[in-house]
Amino acid sequence: MRSVIDVLDLTVEELEELIKVADDIIDNPQKYSEKCKGKKLATLFFEPSTRTRLSFEAAMYELGGNVLGFSEAQSSSAAKGESVADTAKTVSCYADIIAMRHPKEGAPLVASLNATIPVINAGDGGHNHPTQTLADLLTIHREKGRFNDLTVGLCGDLKFGRTVHSLINALSRYSGIKFVLISPDELKLPSYIKKEVLEKNNLEYVQTTSLEEVMPELDILYMTRVQRERFFNEEDYLRLKDSYILTPEKLVNAKKNLSIMHPLPRVNEISVAIDEDPRACYFKQVLCGKFMRMALILKLLEIN
Ligand code: CP
Repeated sequence: MRSVIDVLDLTVEELEELIKVADDIIDNPQKYSEKCKGKKLATLFFEPSTRTRLSFEAAMYELGGNVLGFSEAQSSSAAKGESVADTAKTVSCYADIIAMRHPKEGAPLVASLNATIPVINAGDGGHNHPTQTLADLLTIHREKGRFNDLTVGLCGDLKFGRTVHSLINALSRYSGIKFVLISPDELKLPSYIKKEVLEKNNLEYVQTTSLEEVMPELDILYMTRVQRERFFNEEDYLRLKDSYILTPEKLVNAKKNLSIMHPLPRVNEISVAIDEDPRACYFKQVLCGKFMRMALILKLLEIN
């Protein structure tokens, strides 16, 4: 029985195998329509979500399985003080696999240590979001055809943005990757990630506050939302929230084959005028997320 709490729980070979399966699901959906017949996915969401929860649910339905769960802590017994460990033990009696989102970093790990079924981390606080990274990797693979030799700009809230942390972890295992970290000083990438991931793996990276200056060199621009829910005071959020707003004018010096990504939801970070630009990939990421979650459910349930 295997859980996925961190993207590094999957080897490079396993990531490539998931991409292969997702590509096959895209080409042959009918082949997969009954693979999870009789199986149940529990979506335990203690924090708001549109894409992750609904794509997990759509994934399980498209595999012929069923879904149960809750979409907010208040409608579960967590509101009465039940622990994550007891919730995981309980849900193990009803379902075959769990997808859990929680505001506390490490909560899905605690669930995985107490559940008797696989647990997938669907986002834990400002820590990790491995299945968003699966969506991002499939998108990059379909757009660029490779993971090596890419200059990847990560822009916005690099401190609390869990999607960025997971993506850096995943890409750190490929060669020729250069990270360009674009953020206000207050929202820089945490030093533990710089030390433990970037420096330990001798990865090239630069830090800057200017998106315009680095735009011409980027192959991928990964925009992120300033994570209001992680701030201790509203004043700081209001001061920082519009630090970077991508508009068509700012893309004048960008590469013609730049891939513009965003895990969504967006607030103000990308002007809607960019949505029709062929370089905009963020709604492709949404769709890729469903296919990769289908591939991951099959893998963890050991269904071929
Ligand atoms: N990208 C993402 O995690 O979106 P949701 O918060 O809507 O699930």
